[in-house]
Amino acid sequence: MKKLFIKTYGCQMNAYDSARMADLLAPLGYAPTAKADGADMVILNTCHIREKATEKVYSELGRLKALKREKPGMLVAVAGCTAQAEGAEIVARAPVVDLVVGPQSYHRLPEMIARAARQAGHVLETDFPALEKFDVIAGTEALSDTGISAFLTVQEGCDKFCTFCVVPYTRGPEHSRSPERIIAEARRLAARGAREIVLLGQNVNAYRGVGEDGKSWNLARLIEAIAQIASVSRIRYTTSHPRDMDDDLIAAHGAIEKLMPMLHLPVQSGSDSVLAAMNRQHTAEDYLRLIEKLRGSRPDIAFSSDFIVGFPGESDGDFEATMALVRNVKFAQCFSFKYSPRPGTPAAAAKKLVAEPVKTARLLALQALLLEQQDDANRAAIGKTMTVLFEKPGREKGQLVGRTPYLQPVHVQGGREWIGRIAAVKITALTANSLHGALLENLPA
Ligand code: SAH
Ligand code: SF4
Ligand code: F3S
Repeated sequence: MKKLFIKTYGCQMNAYDSARMADLLAPLGYAPTAKADGADMVILNTCHIREKATEKVYSELGRLKALKREKPGMLVAVAGCTAQAEGAEIVARAPVVDLVVGPQSYHRLPEMIARAARQAGHVLETDFPALEKFDVIAGTEALSDTGISAFLTVQEGCDKFCTFCVVPYTRGPEHSRSPERIIAEARRLAARGAREIVLLGQNVNAYRGVGEDGKSWNLARLIEAIAQIASVSRIRYTTSHPRDMDDDLIAAHGAIEKLMPMLHLPVQSGSDSVLAAMNRQHTAEDYLRLIEKLRGSRPDIAFSSDFIVGFPGESDGDFEATMALVRNVKFAQCFSFKYSPRPGTPAAAAKKLVAEPVKTARLLALQALLLEQQDDANRAAIGKTMTVLFEKPGREKGQLVGRTPYLQPVHVQGGREWIGRIAAVKITALTANSLHGALLENLPA
């Protein structure tokens, strides 16, 4: 057996891709290992979204150089979005790298490894044969998945071209997988013990698969089909774009019990002029109207979002508009970032930059407000009974960790037989970001 170490950066889709690379390399005798030290092959599955994410890749490559000196046969591969964006620069800056493979070409890894063994120097693949990738991996997906909650990529790429974002360049154009293949993969995941399926896409609600019947499927229809799998109890999807939130999907939130009442719907900013400069193609008012519609369909739905502060040209007034939108919506959980100029994106050429200390002050103010809202949502759970899906043992003896429909982690005392099951839990306390509670049920005989 050869040892394979994969380090994953970035979003859930990278986590999914890492699992697929492990699946693809298993027939070549590679078995996953937990550390780079002593591995026969190391894959860094990289992220390019912000400058910091890219810097991490180069510092990790520095560490690998030392490891490779001890084990000269070690193969080092860089995969993912940084590989796609700056493959040539990576091999120039870090000669330790043997293989560079983009997110749409990793199905070629087995052949690339063979080529690397034959030739000196680097092997580089950064084409966009999206269709080919999903054809090649079809049937092998889910081999290495054993989680209670499982990711399933249904759509990849992005045609939106927000002016700050590298994803349309690193992941390529939008492509939806066939519904039949997705359903087959969901069944395999369920057979391996998955109780929750998280449908992934850079723009997941732009999903438009073509079924064997020649008909176009939207995300709502796909969710409906996956909800038919008996042992799948929870379905989520991420990441959505406000522009693609169609009426079928809004209705699905009210109609499909298994579809969880928690939606990640990035808005980025609450200012119309910033939204326009970002090319988000909607206004703050459009977003608020969408939130109302979703609440109309599913009254207990909660929202999370992404924000960027300090986008070029963002004034104090623009930032205030973001704070006002946040106060209006009341989010359950959010991610917020300082704008990071990315090479090759339109916004990177902007002249009216926001000064770093201003960006920092705005980020702190926004994060304080978001944290307050998250705390409010968590505190509101105390005293309630919630359904919890148990995913793993906790750090303390006899402890279990699970999640509520709103993705809040919950700790209870209970036996391992609960893992993979859903139970009613009375929530009793909140510490840091975690809820604590007591199981209200005994296992059926
Ligand atoms: N497809 C998703 C998100 C992709 S990236 C969407 O449409 O929203 C995840 C988040 O990273 C984005 O929502 C955005 O908030 C943030 N992000 C993307 N590019 C960024 C940049 N250049 N600087 C700072 N944050 C960025
Ligand atoms: Fe990036 Fe915008 Fe596409 Fe999201 S919708 S991946 S933020 S370009
Ligand atoms: Fe990063 Fe690529 Fe995901 S840039 S966020 S790994 S799509």
